[in-house]
Amino acid sequence: MLSRAPDGEAFLGGRSLASILDEVGAATPAYVYDLGAMATEARELVDSFGAHAQLVAFAVKANSAGAVVRTLARAGCGAEVGSLAELEVARISGIEADRMLLSGMGKSVAAIDAAIGAGARGILAIQVDSIDELERIAARSRALGRTARVALRVNPAIRADTHQAIATGHEDAKFGILRADLPRAYAAIRAQGEALTLVGLGAHVGSQLVRTDAYFDTADALLTLVHEFERGGARLELIDFGGGFGIDYGDGCFVRPRDFVAGVLARTIAAGLEGRTVVVEPGRSLVGAHGCLVASVVATKVVSGRRWAVLDAGMNDLLRPALYGARHRIEPLGPRVARRGGEPGAQLWRVVGPVCESSDEFGEYELDEPLPARVLIRDVGAYGFAMASNYNGRGLPTEIFLHECGKLSVSRAGDANAWIAQRLAT
Ligand SMILES: Cc1ncc(COP(=O)(O)O)c(C=O)c1O
Repeated sequence: MLSRAPDGEAFLGGRSLASILDEVGAATPAYVYDLGAMATEARELVDSFGAHAQLVAFAVKANSAGAVVRTLARAGCGAEVGSLAELEVARISGIEADRMLLSGMGKSVAAIDAAIGAGARGILAIQVDSIDELERIAARSRALGRTARVALRVNPAIRADTHQAIATGHEDAKFGILRADLPRAYAAIRAQGEALTLVGLGAHVGSQLVRTDAYFDTADALLTLVHEFERGGARLELIDFGGGFGIDYGDGCFVRPRDFVAGVLARTIAAGLEGRTVVVEPGRSLVGAHGCLVASVVATKVVSGRRWAVLDAGMNDLLRPALYGARHRIEPLGPRVARRGGEPGAQLWRVVGPVCESSDEFGEYELDEPLPARVLIRDVGAYGFAMASNYNGRGLPTEIFLHECGKLSVSRAGDANAWIAQRLAT
């Protein structure tokens, strides 16, 4: 949890951010994560299910750091993974195969094989994105002499009120199987005999949802479909309502994850399906608010009255603003510096990174002039480092983890020297 001392200095998880960087000798840009707050978030969500059979499958794509995945595994989460590499991170971080789901379209043969071959009976479910994919998975189960546990990812044709790039359940979205095609998908599963077993239905209607309507409409559609499948002879173990719970990026808009859960639990029980495991796949809501990116102001310029502040963090470190126009709060690391008489105070600054792209911009922010030496970019624990790249020959940012026990650990795995060595090795 981010907080401020009376003098304005920023604290994360009860520790001064500046002193965290000093203690580990980290330069900027550096991500700092509060693992204790992530664990609390996860435990609260798991507990909100009460005695109902559940799986809170953390969407590893949001933050794949081992320290994060291990923390959430200990707090009671399973994992939703989108690749072989994410599956391996989840497995080695202690998540059992029967608490894992593999989703995404265009799954590699290696990922499918790992999912089918994991544990005694494979992972909990491979979320199947198309009828074609059913055939590919069945061919791999036969080759491995196993049965693949599959769940159908339904495209409910519901447009969630979120950024168009992260609305995933409408008819034009590339994901999932439309309702009209489900009978054909079910027939295709049965035609594969022992190679496939249908264990559930699921959907993921979008990300950063700050209203419940699309999520609950999707839930109603899924519950109706479960009844239809069961009338057709299926016996489903799980219903996966997906992730997407939005967080407050500073505009006060969000719905508590446990309110999404309460809504789908009530609907599941009202539909007479309480014997089924209810799965949710939160990513952002477990980790997003509990990471920040500390950056230094490396240059300023004033052109035609417009003030530009250049940070040492850019779109390669945090892509969301350039990719989605996302806005993250940018604030001084603090403490506040007393202004001398005659200094101008708060000004509007266009805050940008050092990358050679005009889209390498975080937005316009009110910051004191003279500018603080270091700033923090808030709410970057999800889809922050996970989307970072080496573009422009820039190293990946440092990551610092504040563990529940108070210990700090650091990862500098992808620094610029690693990038130089890799490029020269071609
Ligand atoms: C299939 C699936 N499940 C879960 C998630 C997690 O979404 P969020 O981080 O918004 O909770 C995603 C993210 O896009 C996804 O594609």
